[in-house]
Amino acid sequence: MHLTPSEERILNGEQGYVLQKAMEILAALGDIYDVDRLIPVKSTQIAGVSYKNIGEAGLEWISGLSGKVKVPSVLNPAGLDRVRWRELSISEEFAAKQDEVIRAYESLGILPWCTCTPYEIRTDLAKPGDHLAWSESSAVAYANSVIGARTNREGGPSALAAALIGTTPNYGYHLDRNRLPSIAIRVEGRLSGADYGAFGYIAGAIAGSGVPIFSLESVPTNDERKALGAAMAASGAVALHYIAGTAPLPPTLPRPHLDQDTRDIVERITIEHAEIKEVYQTHQCDPDLIAIGCPHCSAAVLARLRDLLAGKTVTKEFWIFTSGIMRDRHPDLVAGIESSGAKVICDTCMVVSPLCERFRCMMVSSGKALAYVPQMCGSDAVLGSIEDCVRSAVAP
Ligand code: F3S
Repeated sequence: MHLTPSEERILNGEQGYVLQKAMEILAALGDIYDVDRLIPVKSTQIAGVSYKNIGEAGLEWISGLSGKVKVPSVLNPAGLDRVRWRELSISEEFAAKQDEVIRAYESLGILPWCTCTPYEIRTDLAKPGDHLAWSESSAVAYANSVIGARTNREGGPSALAAALIGTTPNYGYHLDRNRLPSIAIRVEGRLSGADYGAFGYIAGAIAGSGVPIFSLESVPTNDERKALGAAMAASGAVALHYIAGTAPLPPTLPRPHLDQDTRDIVERITIEHAEIKEVYQTHQCDPDLIAIGCPHCSAAVLARLRDLLAGKTVTKEFWIFTSGIMRDRHPDLVAGIESSGAKVICDTCMVVSPLCERFRCMMVSSGKALAYVPQMCGSDAVLGSIEDCVRSAVAP
């Protein structure tokens, strides 16, 4: 990979040990992927935050770093709600370790917003055409597919290196040629709400690491596309998808004899509506926890929950995950939801927190949580719509 003279100087250690190590990470990626150069990034979103996942070795590594990030940078969800951890029975020891992790990141100038939906907090973090270095798979899918920005799915260290240097290697989804659709999937029947998570659960397994383009009978909202992208990144490794005829469109490359939406497509399949409905039935268990907010809830979903829960009282644990910033911005929605006995839990989630491991069966409204909860929490999981989740939470 070609480095500019100033990048060479960083690599040679002239700006200190930490930047040298960061540049070594970027240069190694550049060599592995046969990259021409580094390109500036607009923002970074950094994984490797939950103490449950990174443990003592991760904490030690982060604590040894110094300096300041060059671009706006935010964190992935942590292992606890930074405000309510005591009432949720998180141990003092875990909380102290988690606090050390977040403080270490903050000392580097990283914003301590622990969320997988940073685009809902600050829209200037990612605009169409921006190059990013984001880590969390659902955030990557949203940035690429809904916003039209460009990011690979970064590991924690490579996102942090990009934050410290302000650049990332120019490969993968940064390049037009890797952003062309590779599989066309037609969906029979109209979808809504959690159907998109169920559909993504199937489509991700089919598409693998390809770039699907969907023909749909219904027009998904941004929340529904968020659910679709999250599920496909969990059941497969899809980081970019298109909806036929909807912006952002695939890039135009100079091969005019082919139709833009269909060039390079190697496979065409149809998913029937019944297959999507089957995902609700495939996993069955009697939930002792209802959990919504994978990815973190938007204000629109919080408002929907507030309305569905109005005048009701929950009879089992009902946890709703969002970012701490969203909680602070919408205290009325949070108060409305919590008047039912449900809890709005922030800066963490049902997968990265040790909180959920004590439950046998979780009802979730997310295809991603359906895929990850059994692996990461050791609980069974069952999929329901938001309405099903509320019904189950208030059932006598
Ligand atoms: Fe976000 Fe946690 Fe789901 S990081 S996408 S809420 S697994």
